[in-house]
Amino acid sequence: MSEEPPKRRWTGKPRGGDGARQLTTRVKNKRVKESSKKWIERQLNDPYVTRAKAEGARARAYYKLAELDEQFHFLRPGARVIDLGAAPGGWAQVCVERGCKVVGVDLLPIEALAGATFLEMDFLSPEAPAALMATLGGAPDVVLSDMAANTTGHAKTDQIRTGALAEAAAEFALAKLAPGGTFVTKAFQGGLDAALLARLKQNFAKVAHAKPPASRTESSEVYVVATGRKS
Ligand SMILES: C[S@@+](CC[C@H](N)C(=O)[O-])C[C@H]1O[C@@H](n2cnc3c(N)ncnc32)[C@H](O)[C@@H]1O
Repeated sequence: MSEEPPKRRWTGKPRGGDGARQLTTRVKNKRVKESSKKWIERQLNDPYVTRAKAEGARARAYYKLAELDEQFHFLRPGARVIDLGAAPGGWAQVCVERGCKVVGVDLLPIEALAGATFLEMDFLSPEAPAALMATLGGAPDVVLSDMAANTTGHAKTDQIRTGALAEAAAEFALAKLAPGGTFVTKAFQGGLDAALLARLKQNFAKVAHAKPPASRTESSEVYVVATGRKS
């Protein structure tokens, strides 16, 4: 029996929005903390959250990768993809829908997805790179990292911890990517450490910063997209 290709979800901008949201629903319960109210209101009024629910996307992050791929075209049918920080699986859904083979890793368990294999482990553990490579069974064409450390509330600490994750992802991509391959990583506060960015520029044909419309305007999150890994 032939397997039907997975259905593509919507990948355009939400109607009536470019990522900037119009607040229409407010939480009035006085017993809810102000910070929690803000989070709930943001979720209730976020057109990408609504779309994700309606279209069966596992996370609003789904649309960030879909939009990055529309801009840079790195997810080709048959491509081998490693997805770092894959839970709950939104990016993996995009990859599978575009005909890629995916191996993802996360500290958290991820619900099974046809076309993807997920490892539940710490990417920073010494055994993670070998486990990913053995599961993928060949050099990746694309390494994606959407890893983010749990926020502490202390901006500088959060920036350092997420920077360390992006750096580990970049080292992995530089060591393992197939020639011509693509590396995409989340970064904060305008980008990666200058020395790391310089190394990427030496080793890839093109390095760009992108803020897809699905990335919240108020977040300092950006994505670094390095294409054309030099051999
Ligand atoms: C923003 S979420 C990823 C969302 C995902 N791209 C999607 O579309 O569903 C960030 C993830 O990074 C994971 N993460 C953080 N540190 C990690 C580490 N050291 N190893 C593996 N995963 C990690 C977190 O557990 C979290 O699930």
